[in-house]
Amino acid sequence: MKIAILGAGGRMGKMLDSLSGACGLEVVSRIDILEGYDREWREDVEGVVDFSFHKAVPEFVKKAAAQNLPYVIGTTGLDVAEQAIVNEEAKKIPIVQSGNYSLGVNLLLELTRRASSALGSLYDIEVVEMHHRHKKDAPSGTALMLAKAAAEGRNLDFDSAAIYGRHGESGERPIDQIAIHALRGGSVVGDHTVIFAGEVERVELTHRAQTREAFAMGALSALKWAKGKAPGIYTMRNVLGFAD
Ligand SMILES: NC(=O)c1ccc[n+]([C@@H]2O[C@H](COP(=O)([O-])OP(=O)(O)OC[C@H]3O[C@@H](n4cnc5c(N)ncnc54)[C@H](O)[C@@H]3O)[C@@H](O)[C@H]2O)c1
Repeated sequence: MKIAILGAGGRMGKMLDSLSGACGLEVVSRIDILEGYDREWREDVEGVVDFSFHKAVPEFVKKAAAQNLPYVIGTTGLDVAEQAIVNEEAKKIPIVQSGNYSLGVNLLLELTRRASSALGSLYDIEVVEMHHRHKKDAPSGTALMLAKAAAEGRNLDFDSAAIYGRHGESGERPIDQIAIHALRGGSVVGDHTVIFAGEVERVELTHRAQTREAFAMGALSALKWAKGKAPGIYTMRNVLGFAD
């Protein structure tokens, strides 16, 4: 399968490039705004994997939809308008979108959903993430996914339950709150912990990514999986069969 990598000059782009061959994929277009990279993908591209920048995603997705290409979105930080365009174009092509493509994090999502449902409202839920100092958005897409999984497990409406950090006179913690905290520093690839804090005990579920390879392998297998699928938005739950 001939593929285009969007954001090919970035940290993830380079990792995807180096692993594609081993996954049976041939990189024929390396798109980036940096010097020395392609600006347009080749006509014979059969699939697109996007780890670029959120503002670039809508135009890329529209172009892929016009050419009927399966599309994997790794790029995070899309705003509501950008996401709406992705949702619209997903009526024409299969799009896999995940804030985290690693197997371990997708397992953590399942465990979080189940723990949240089993522990119930006597346990306060907090999500803490840490990433390297170069990361441009906060909180991470993965932290949001974990907080949403926790909300789902407890039948909470995510938008009313979620808060982002605390500052000043924040008052007593409401029972049905899910707080998300973002730490930044050094070269941390990606750490996520979901804390369930009760009166007498605390459960902490943690995942630590050691290299970016985990994300790249997942994204490339998602692209292979998406080829030939019906139009729609899919997640790694679909790719890994957790949603079946
Ligand atoms: N879903 C996941 O599993 C996962 C894992 C890691 C990173 N990410 C996300 O992937 C994205 C990229 O991460 P990174 O660490 O590689 O960042 P990076 O900054 O190292 O790379 C991004 C690249 O995109 C390029 N770019 C910017 N605007 C562009 C445009 N308009 N067209 C083409 N290229 C453009 C930049 O020049 C850069 O080379 C971020 O949104 C990050 O949060 C997702």
